Amino acid sequence: MDTAPTSSHPAHQDPAHLEIRPPVLYFGTPVALLSTENEDGSFNLAPISSAWALGRTVLLGLGRQGQTARNLADRPNLVVNLPAPELWRAVERLAPLTGRHPVPPGKPHGCRFEPDKFGAAGLTEQPSRGVRPPRVAECPLQLEARAEQVRPDGSGEFVIVEAVVGTVHADARIVVPGTDHVDPAAWSPLVYSFRHYFGLGPELGHSYRTRTPRTQAAPDSPADAEPRRVPD
Ligand SMILES: Cc1cc2nc3c(=O)[nH]c(=O)nc-3n(C[C@H](O)[C@H](O)[C@H](O)COP(=O)(O)O)c2cc1C
Repeated sequence: MDTAPTSSHPAHQDPAHLEIRPPVLYFGTPVALLSTENEDGSFNLAPISSAWALGRTVLLGLGRQGQTARNLADRPNLVVNLPAPELWRAVERLAPLTGRHPVPPGKPHGCRFEPDKFGAAGLTEQPSRGVRPPRVAECPLQLEARAEQVRPDGSGEFVIVEAVVGTVHADARIVVPGTDHVDPAAWSPLVYSFRHYFGLGPELGHSYRTRTPRTQAAPDSPADAEPRRVPD
């Protein structure tokens, strides 16, 4: 049963928070560039930001009409390439392009067909180890993967992809030397927040679960203190 409000402001009318209807809900997730294989054996490349990891699986949200969704339904191998912040202009060059011909009706105004996405973006194909789609050489993290499930979402507009990651390639400059750990102090994703691009700010702290070995002494840590760990 609802409780009657006791002040002049009902509980849901918090004056510090406005009720708004934002046109998008992209609250800030990393950009990934998906390389996939087209019907004719050429390769497509598409930016997405609806991606997150669950163990060894990366979940992807894709527009149903796009070439990437079509490719993964038929040829499930892909590479999830993760660009650093300085690649944002290359990402944005890909934004109005589709690998699908003719351009499907649901695509935004101004969207055009482009068969050579790598060339259009000024990015370099790099052969993968275990899948046909190439990696993006400029991306510091490249996850070879296979779409094990491609299914429609509830609205029918999108597909949800479960991609199981195989080989992971990391630029040597973001790896803690001699380990399998990505150094979070050296790596920054490109973050897409309400259709604007950002990098990460300074580190705030770390999870109690981190196992990343120390890469540098914290400025105020005594010499005999526990090694500083940074989040993984
Ligand atoms: C930064 C950024 C993030 C995007 N995120 C997504 C996304 O999460 N899912 C999606 O389907 N499209 C996303 N898009 C739009 C696709 O890149 C766009 O529809 C593109 O035409 C798809 O190419 P394709 O048809 O060749 O697959 C994003 C675009 C940009 C620039």
